[in-house]
Amino acid sequence: MQGAQPIILGISGSERAGGNTDLALEYAGRLVHERGAEFRTIHLRDHRISPCSPCGDCNSRLTPCELRDDMPAIVERMKQADGIIYAAPVHGFGLAHLMQIFIERAGVGFLRFERPLANKVGGIIVTGRRYSEASVHNQLVDNLLLNRMILVGSGFPALLRNTGPEPRLQDTEGLEALERMVHRMLDMTLLLRRHQAATGEPVLPLDDRNERVARPPRELTPAVNTP
Ligand SMILES: Cc1cc2nc3c(=O)[nH]c(=O)nc-3n(C[C@H](O)[C@H](O)[C@H](O)COP(=O)(O)O)c2cc1C
Repeated sequence: MQGAQPIILGISGSERAGGNTDLALEYAGRLVHERGAEFRTIHLRDHRISPCSPCGDCNSRLTPCELRDDMPAIVERMKQADGIIYAAPVHGFGLAHLMQIFIERAGVGFLRFERPLANKVGGIIVTGRRYSEASVHNQLVDNLLLNRMILVGSGFPALLRNTGPEPRLQDTEGLEALERMVHRMLDMTLLLRRHQAATGEPVLPLDDRNERVARPPRELTPAVNTP
């Protein structure tokens, strides 16, 4: 996270190489590069990611998931990024299975102990034909907030529609929303970096990382107390 250029990581949950989701993420990547930042991509379909097993002890265990697959390496790559974009298609009125499996494994298996994505900037792209994109988007919003990531308001959500069989970026309004989202993510990333460089402190405290542990007391600063 402290390299020369900000790093935005795009995670694609589409099983279709070169499909609508990949095209949308590539477009986001071009915008990131144009701003002089680095864009990295993870295609979940290229990785070995097991679904959650029947062990069912995620909520009680104190150590990360023991399933041996690519998840720990992916989580490490997420930790290196300043910002993360989840990009996923809608399948059967819900989140397509690759992304669903991924957020289950990442969340309960790895991220819930220390919330290492806290204060990273989050973004979401959902591709679909027209049915339930908003509820899939809402699910991913909840997931980013659960991980204490920073969501930057940027106007309409980046929901990209294509009703044809061929992959295509044809949804002008959706693309405008995507552009705004990427630019606002980068603006926020730069703001956070400037704050960190100037103060040596994270912009929001990181001492409250686990919702299962009592929240540390907070006092208003004198500046805030002063009428
Ligand atoms: C199995 C399957 C189920 C789908 N279900 C929905 C759906 O419920 N709602 C919707 O709007 N689109 C649905 N679609 C369309 C895809 O969300 C849409 O084509 C998306 O852009 C595909 O992304 P991709 O090209 O990256 O695979 C479905 C597509 C597939 C293959």
